[in-house]
Amino acid sequence: MSAAPAAFEHPILRAATPQAWVVAACAAPDVLLIDHANCEKKAASTALSLMFAYALDLELTDKMSRLAREELRHYEQVVKLLKSLGIAPQRLAPGRYADGLRRLVAKAEPQREVDLMICGAIIEARSCERFLALGGAIGGAAGQLFAGLHAAEARHYKM
Ligand SMILES: [Fe+2]
Ligand SMILES: [Fe+2]
Repeated sequence: MSAAPAAFEHPILRAATPQAWVVAACAAPDVLLIDHANCEKKAASTALSLMFAYALDLELTDKMSRLAREELRHYEQVVKLLKSLGIAPQRLAPGRYADGLRRLVAKAEPQREVDLMICGAIIEARSCERFLALGGAIGGAAGQLFAGLHAAEARHYKM
């Protein structure tokens, strides 16, 4: 008889990523890394959009500027790994997850800004949770990369 899995506790995520996702991601490391490079680019681009949308909030624009640069450095790290592993770039359809979240964002301010921050926090928190799982499961240089990115995403979702 196996022990019941430990209850999932997280400040904002309600459920853990299923183990089947981790298994499927590890079985397709090329796609995982190419998709991840896209996610880092998208994170930088979202931070830049927030700088334009909330240009009068200098505290926010400063934080988003730093975030955009950090996400671009993550992108460069992933591309470096893709090159060193000889993985050819390919276009992937974007995932439905972030789009699904953004459809729930209010159109009118001030709720819109709050909703966008919550979406960002949920996306960063999910990355953080998945990087921890991938870092332990995938091994090699990719595992090291994900384990290294984990701490950054933990900072981002708290911000
Ligand atoms: Fe990142
Ligand atoms: Fe991030």
